[in-house]
Amino acid sequence: MSSTSKPKLRSTAWFGLQDRDGFVHRSWMQNQGLPRDLFDGRPVIGICNTWSELTPCNAHLRTVAERVKRGVFEAGGFPVEFPVMSLGETNLRPTAMLFRNLASMDVEESIRANPIDGVVLLAGCDKTTPSLVMGAASCDVPAIVVSGGPMLNGRYRGRNIGSGTDVWRFGEMLKTGEMTLDDLAEAESCMSRSAGHCMTMGTASTMACMVEALGVALPGNAAIPAVDARRYTLAHMAGRRVVDLVKNDVRLSTILTRKAFENAIRVNGAIGGSTNAVLHLLAIAGRVGVELSLEDWDRLGHDVPTIVDLMPSGRFLMEDFYYAGGLPTVMRALLEKGFLHKDALTVSGHTVEENVAQARNEDPEVIRALDKPLTEAGGIAVLSGNLCPNGAVLKPSAASPALMQHTGRAVVFEDIEDYKARIDDPDLDIDESCVMVLKNCGPRGYPGMPEVGNMTLPAKILKKGINDMVRISDARMSGTAYGTVVLHVAPEAALKGPLSIVENGDMITLDVPARKLHLDVSDAEIKARLAKRQNLPPPMESGYQRLYYDHVLQADRGVDFDFLVGCRGADIPRESH
Ligand code: FES
Repeated sequence: MSSTSKPKLRSTAWFGLQDRDGFVHRSWMQNQGLPRDLFDGRPVIGICNTWSELTPCNAHLRTVAERVKRGVFEAGGFPVEFPVMSLGETNLRPTAMLFRNLASMDVEESIRANPIDGVVLLAGCDKTTPSLVMGAASCDVPAIVVSGGPMLNGRYRGRNIGSGTDVWRFGEMLKTGEMTLDDLAEAESCMSRSAGHCMTMGTASTMACMVEALGVALPGNAAIPAVDARRYTLAHMAGRRVVDLVKNDVRLSTILTRKAFENAIRVNGAIGGSTNAVLHLLAIAGRVGVELSLEDWDRLGHDVPTIVDLMPSGRFLMEDFYYAGGLPTVMRALLEKGFLHKDALTVSGHTVEENVAQARNEDPEVIRALDKPLTEAGGIAVLSGNLCPNGAVLKPSAASPALMQHTGRAVVFEDIEDYKARIDDPDLDIDESCVMVLKNCGPRGYPGMPEVGNMTLPAKILKKGINDMVRISDARMSGTAYGTVVLHVAPEAALKGPLSIVENGDMITLDVPARKLHLDVSDAEIKARLAKRQNLPPPMESGYQRLYYDHVLQADRGVDFDFLVGCRGADIPRESH
């Protein structure tokens, strides 16, 4: 790609004006001690930062931004850092997902309204990555994602522990008495011991892999630990590269093609990635006008073996993944077997094939060979049937093989509060052959589609040494979680989907090989029960939650807002001074 052509820069409509308006735009900026020659028509690079002390996974991103600035200056650009809404999984209530679309609007409007020619998107915690890419994609400006990187491995009493995955396990051990509250307090400070996001292959790591696989992050982005010096080198290089992307007018739509999404879906299968990636990639594709469906996830991912042996599907953590070669090694293996479009262009200026040509596998325990996988059929299983007319998903690599074909009696929880109130009631009529059904936790139902689909089993069943049962809901599941868990049932219960009429004692059949989820109740009975149901009312009569309720799409459409789907570009707004 040559850097000689000179597209017209958006920022010249602000800083290039030789009049009173130009004075206004430049003069106030100079109160930051900026030399006047920075306004001479060089590319202005926005560094879109989700730094926040309330988003601990992103708390180090101000430092990362400084390294991006070095690269931008070196390449002859003018960096300007700006904050956008930051979504931290661990603190936001009711769930960070309720605000993903709101944050994407912040990103989109901040870019369009300002003198910005290209952006570096600083992300980390789960929803921060998709919200930034969705917003930038709707503007279609040149952009590079720099992830904050994973935390170092957790270490507790002589063994590695992983964010989330071990928390779920500790929760079960507390229930069975295998762990005390004192033990739990010790583990708490051993798990999160450095800057960075969850170091399991949870949603944050999955999305860091997804942006690398899509080609909108530089090679190596996904796995470098947050505190490794090479994370800062990558940020520095991204600063250099984005200036070149602007000079050559390489916009996100050039990179985010159908081929890029197909590559990402296949990579998700190989890494045993989070089910949340399904929602986020559908939403990102919608913003750039790429046709992508739930069925594409099954069709493209079903024959991809999971070869990355990371929690929650496997044993290791992101730090180990980095030392083993990281995502370029996985992509090279996939590419050599013909799983990837090798000619897809990336923000490095090179194709996927060129990016990974030098990748080596330094640890075949962590990144396995394709013929010795962790799971033969990785990817995401997309289910259909009378219980989920618009689909549902299950992650085979995190499920129990013995439960992949199972018929059981439904034990129904009307909502998450009902579940919490009754799950450990010794009189609850449930055994390990039952199917746990949770309603009203979908996009509208909760609202925000919380990560509660991996319901913890009743204590009386855990005490028998059993730690998996079939669970079904319209909720999501943390990328760090595991189990035979059917998620994203659409339409959701709150929209009078068939899930809403399941009753205690109904028989349900899950058949993952056949991709079926069936409620063994007659069509007439389903119709009669549905006739008695009503849509759940909005959670609030006004405000953002009302907007959300009125416009959110179902899981099979990525849970975006209907009015945000599509690319609106970055035409320069009118001058108002
Ligand atoms: Fe932020 Fe897991 S809580 S990445």
